Amino acid sequence: MGSYIFRRCIRRLPGAVIHAVPIPEPEVTVGFGSREQIGPICKALGAKSVLLVTDKTLFSLGFHEKIVGSLKAEGVPCAVFSDISTEPTTDIIRAGRQAAVDCKADCIAALGGGSVMDSSKIIAAGAKKPNKSVSRYLHKFDFIKGKTLPLITVPSTAGTGAEYTVGAVVKNSKGVKNSTVVVGLDVRHVVLDSELTVGAPQSVTVWCGIDALSHGLEGVLSDVKYNEDDMKKSSACVRLVMENLPVLLNDPGNIDARQKMALAAFYGGNAINKQLAGYIHACAHSIGGLYHIPHGKAIAFCTMPVLDMLRDVCREKLAALSVYCGTAKDSDRADIAAKKFFSALKKLLDDCGLEKGCAALKKEDYPKLLKMINADSINYSPPKTFKNSEVIGILDHIAKGE
Ligand SMILES: [Fe+2]
Repeated sequence: MGSYIFRRCIRRLPGAVIHAVPIPEPEVTVGFGSREQIGPICKALGAKSVLLVTDKTLFSLGFHEKIVGSLKAEGVPCAVFSDISTEPTTDIIRAGRQAAVDCKADCIAALGGGSVMDSSKIIAAGAKKPNKSVSRYLHKFDFIKGKTLPLITVPSTAGTGAEYTVGAVVKNSKGVKNSTVVVGLDVRHVVLDSELTVGAPQSVTVWCGIDALSHGLEGVLSDVKYNEDDMKKSSACVRLVMENLPVLLNDPGNIDARQKMALAAFYGGNAINKQLAGYIHACAHSIGGLYHIPHGKAIAFCTMPVLDMLRDVCREKLAALSVYCGTAKDSDRADIAAKKFFSALKKLLDDCGLEKGCAALKKEDYPKLLKMINADSINYSPPKTFKNSEVIGILDHIAKGE
């Protein structure tokens, strides 16, 4: 995994493979309180029994009640499974699958953050074959015969894009995280309800927002064959965050900005599905994993140092993105336009009040991190394969916050 030549040779492979995976094409409902539409949505799908999957916190806050009420009003039976924890394990997935079997669910509604979304994907896959070992759903690719149970997803954060991504991360029985691509995932409807994010702590809003932005940004920059619609969505993801995250820093209750951030996160999910991530994520996964730093915070540490290393190779794309985001004019030279985008993004990160530099990052951990970053990077098709010396340079910048 560590060989630069090997990594460079296979750089475009993940981008080619991901195009062979069927991607769901869900309908989208947007609006404050829009989860009350789930009853009519499920009725229209012909659902006879719905399992609502959520986590303990959202359940205790009663956020599921509007969904249960709307299903009841439409005469669609519903059971609730609310045992999802921060990091889902095979035991919890097994219990969730049993709940789906017990209520004869023919549709799964998922209300929550990335963990609930990922758990629900495996539950929707596993419910079709309840006697199969859950661990067998945690291979690199999980091929479902036909499709999973249909899913209606309602994200409670505006960041991961997991409401629609085909990947799922679940801990196996040994506590090791497995990343699985669910081939045959059937997300039918995504409901973007800003009422769920309006009371979020500012740190969650910021970290999730920066995470969403990084999905769009890495999508734009990735070396993957794309169509114009996907590129537009990835660019829109970046612009929506750059325009609306500053609004939320001063006015957290701004519903319009909340709704646009939810849309940005959804577009970011499209970027992950169709264009993959890159070195910002490879570094953030490794640093976040080693030092137990939340994903969005780790992304914030890694964004500028990685982007800086891609400055030359991605100049044209960054210039076009800068014009699209309104940070540069059409008439600006490419290097000037790209520089303006850098400045605007750096200002956004500064305005978010994030820590300057990752204090946890230690030089003695560099060899371990180098291995982790190189290994993770081969899951993506980044615009450039970094040499070890370049990754070390990035780690230095992350540590200092440059
Ligand atoms: Fe991410």
